Amino acid sequence: MDYSSNFPPFTLFIDWKINCIMMPIDEAIAIRILQTLGLTTKDLYKKNLEHFTEEARKRDEIVEGYFGKEGLSKLIEEISKELGSSERKTILDLGAGTGTFLIPVAKRLSVAQIFALDATPKMLEYFEKKMQQQSIEIKHASIIGDMEQIARSLELNRELRKLELPEKFDLVLSTLAFHHVPNTEKIIEGITHVLSPNGRAVIVDIVFNEQMNSKSSEEHAHEGFKLEELRELATKYFENVNIRVPSIKCKDSESCVETEVFIMKLEKPIR
Ligand SMILES: C[S@@+](CC[C@H](N)C(=O)[O-])C[C@H]1O[C@@H](n2cnc3c(N)ncnc32)[C@H](O)[C@@H]1O
Repeated sequence: MDYSSNFPPFTLFIDWKINCIMMPIDEAIAIRILQTLGLTTKDLYKKNLEHFTEEARKRDEIVEGYFGKEGLSKLIEEISKELGSSERKTILDLGAGTGTFLIPVAKRLSVAQIFALDATPKMLEYFEKKMQQQSIEIKHASIIGDMEQIARSLELNRELRKLELPEKFDLVLSTLAFHHVPNTEKIIEGITHVLSPNGRAVIVDIVFNEQMNSKSSEEHAHEGFKLEELRELATKYFENVNIRVPSIKCKDSESCVETEVFIMKLEKPIR
């Protein structure tokens, strides 16, 4: 199959680690998974892949630029508080990027295993590098996948990469990724299938902002979320839905637009 013409190149090299439950990501297999999921023919995905492949090496600095050092640690603190409980052992991050939030949150909560799912292999490569360079002794795996097809992505990684992945996770996290994916309902519905019955999901993203709408970025599927609409959607799938807006501002230096972020906590999946 020829994907060279419209598929940005990426190289993957991931070291095997003794405490790492992942298999190295083979580039051909990664592409096969992305193709099987139907992502490689979607225009928005192609834009996202190109953008995030380029952004991966400086993702942490970019996030620090959005919130400032203090704002970022406050947000990590808030997320940890929402997720928190020592009973919960596994965490799946959707659109994890390089683990900018996942790694510090997992350290705070002392979770036993972390799983980073992302559709940009380069982001996962940097996540793996960070885990290794910082000698983080937490079992982890990188999952090539689509947030709109969580269970199918897990299945493909089990089948094609021989990863041992749980069926259910105690915690699900997603930060600043929902607005890049068109079908929010599919993601929320998908979470109900992989969240353990007593589990908890915490989603962080940007609140809808008129100003931002006019400066739309081409990798965005949504210019933030209207909280009442989001609540209504989430209550179709979860008994407990709590959304709040902490006093933490997010400022995009490219668009110069300042936005608010929300933290949505979901519990008790309805199925
Ligand atoms: C703005 S970054 C957020 C990364 C990280 N969560 C953070 O807060 O720094 C959005 C991430 O979503 C990923 N992404 C975009 N579309 C996706 C999809 N359909 N499925 C999975 N990941 C996706 C991108 O590759 C990128 O890593």
